[in-house]
Amino acid sequence: MSEIRYVKETRTFKASHVLPPDTNNHNTLFGGKLMAHIDDVAALSAMKHARGPVVTASTDSVDFLNPIKVDNEVALEAFVTWTHHTSMEVFVKIVAEDLITGERTVCATSFLTFVAIGEDGRPTTVPQIFPETDEEKFLNQGAPERAANRKQRRSRSKHLADLLGTHRPWELH
Ligand SMILES: CC(C)(COP(=O)(O)OP(=O)(O)OC[C@H]1O[C@@H](n2cnc3c(N)ncnc32)[C@H](O)[C@@H]1OP(=O)(O)O)[C@@H](O)C(=O)NCCC(=O)NCCS
Repeated sequence: MSEIRYVKETRTFKASHVLPPDTNNHNTLFGGKLMAHIDDVAALSAMKHARGPVVTASTDSVDFLNPIKVDNEVALEAFVTWTHHTSMEVFVKIVAEDLITGERTVCATSFLTFVAIGEDGRPTTVPQIFPETDEEKFLNQGAPERAANRKQRRSRSKHLADLLGTHRPWELH
């Protein structure tokens, strides 16, 4: 596909107020809740790029750099950094804001990969991404190396899945 899309066309922002039901016994946001926010905002960004359905193929990692406290704003910014044939790499930056003082902290970052799905339910090609700013170019340039690492990790995960199988410990086999 020769169509291109600018990174700015994929930028997606999501903010919410951290309230007690979303927090743990330390009064900070549940890690699982943050991961759900990350997947949600990243999927929106990928869909803006693909202009069609997408699935999450992988999340590289989420490094929880700083806790997100109750009563803070948690703000997530996502954009597509790199594309291959059918896959898109999405970067997410998570910033907490103390709503009283205005102090902001980068609390986590994450890279995810989404795959566009066609009408036949199979992966389908996506437009090429076009980075413009220094930040977009920096993230784009590092992407082939990250993609190569993912490829290796996927093959190790497949091997592990084959090795472990589907039986449960209490089942005779
Ligand atoms: C992701 C998925 C669509 C890939 O389908 P597939 O038939 O294995 O297709 P391929 O091996 O041809 O891979 C298609 C693309 O996905 C990429 N890909 C597949 N698995 C990947 C992974 N774990 N990490 C990063 N990229 C991955 C491939 O590199 C390829 O990219 P490219 O076309 O840009 O080169 C399929 O494995 C799937 O449906 N997985 C489950 C997704 C899901 O349910 N997500 C929700 C989580 S609960």
